[in-house]
Amino acid sequence: MKVLVGYATAKGSTRGIAERIAAAFERAGHTADAKELSGIDSVDGYDVLVVGSAIHNGQWLPEAAAALDRLGPDLTGRAVWAFSVSSVGATSSLLASGVARYLRRVTPEPKAVETLQSTADVRGHHFFAGSIAPGDWPGLGRILFRLMGGRYGDARDWADVDGWVATVRAGTDDDVR
Ligand SMILES: Cc1cc2nc3c(=O)[nH]c(=O)nc-3n(C[C@H](O)[C@H](O)[C@H](O)COP(=O)(O)O)c2cc1C
Repeated sequence: MKVLVGYATAKGSTRGIAERIAAAFERAGHTADAKELSGIDSVDGYDVLVVGSAIHNGQWLPEAAAALDRLGPDLTGRAVWAFSVSSVGATSSLLASGVARYLRRVTPEPKAVETLQSTADVRGHHFFAGSIAPGDWPGLGRILFRLMGGRYGDARDWADVDGWVATVRAGTDDDVR
């Protein structure tokens, strides 16, 4: 299978996750490209599409949403897997554990994912925790981050990334286009 992992990042942690996803596919014997979504003109020739973005203010980065709009016609009806990288992931978090548990319950899908669901066949959407350094998130965000028990550092859970890829692979075996 030929796999495209399209991503948008501000500070690089989402790129790291996209590259890990691509590497996991390669280890399983597939060909995988991790590319910035803003530079993708076409998804022709790819059997598996994975798209993801860092979360800022609850939403995908504008360049990720714009890329999905631009590629929209090509994505219609295609099987797509999506991931978001924020302070709180499914299995790890930059925030205090109680806050993370609460946010996992109440955080809605980002709008870009909802929009994608209206055209593409979105098979899954997964939240991963990313990383944050002092100064990355200025102003009110910095204050909220501290109030929610935020700790600067790298909360990416590589085992969760690899596990998710296994789920994606299991879901693609049947119906590769
Ligand atoms: C300006 C800004 C806004 C952010 N907004 C959110 C947010 O709304 N929710 C959240 O959980 N994390 C938020 N974060 C944390 C990022 O999602 C997290 O640091 C992520 O790893 C960034 O990915 P990147 O390194 O690929 O840019 C924000 C970070 C920044 C810098």
